[in-house]
Amino acid sequence: MIETAQAIGIDIGGSGIKGAPVNLADGTFADERLRIPTPQPATPEAVADTVKEILDHFEVADGTPIGVAFPAPVKPGKPLHYMSNLDQSWVGVDITALLCERCGRTVHVLNDADAAGLAEAAYGAAKGVEGLVVATTLGTGIGTALIHDGVLIPNSELGHIIIEGKGDAEKIAADSARTRDELGWKKWAKRLTEYYRLLELYLSPDVFVVGGGVSKKHEKFFPYIDIETPIVPAALLNTAGIVGAAHFADMQ
Ligand code: BGC
Repeated sequence: MIETAQAIGIDIGGSGIKGAPVNLADGTFADERLRIPTPQPATPEAVADTVKEILDHFEVADGTPIGVAFPAPVKPGKPLHYMSNLDQSWVGVDITALLCERCGRTVHVLNDADAAGLAEAAYGAAKGVEGLVVATTLGTGIGTALIHDGVLIPNSELGHIIIEGKGDAEKIAADSARTRDELGWKKWAKRLTEYYRLLELYLSPDVFVVGGGVSKKHEKFFPYIDIETPIVPAALLNTAGIVGAAHFADMQ
């Protein structure tokens, strides 16, 4: 049963949909995380049913803030216009309306990288940082969050900037590209250098925060990323999406 001073966060990913109650005071989980494999195909109806299953599992009380992190740009009240790594049938769907209707309660939805960035700003590596934080998540895709003096500028999609002569950055430099192309850490870091240098040029950030599962192995590849801007690993690792979604819901 969810208690007060908690919110629930749910993180929708390509292989798993994960949820947990979050203590808002410190961004920790208040109960063990539940992970359900993402239905295949990951259609809106099937994913909405899984989100409901997670809420039912935690017996979420009425009035508890509920936040959902989703791997596409999200504007409440508007249909999704772009989807990279989940089923294309999401394009045109108002995910917030769908989840509210299916779950029978108010659900707040935001981009997954924005959720992770918010979590880092509230509880982790970007807490109290002045100026521009560019948080990136390296996973199947590359997610980005822009946070200026603690304020999120939502829906940046800078994982899709074009690297000249090579194409969409996430297809070249995401962690999935490292495994797909069987790259060693040094070779992958060369691609990341190219990517982060473009972000440096366009945004002049004060710090990069790097999240995604692979960031726990940051000692293996950070030393080879050759850029001027300080770069630090995320503090929350694989909890960031859930924690950020819960925090976001509580702020609404
Ligand atoms: C999507 C972003 C998402 C990122 C990480 C990208 O392919 O376009 O919206 O944040 O993957 O999941």
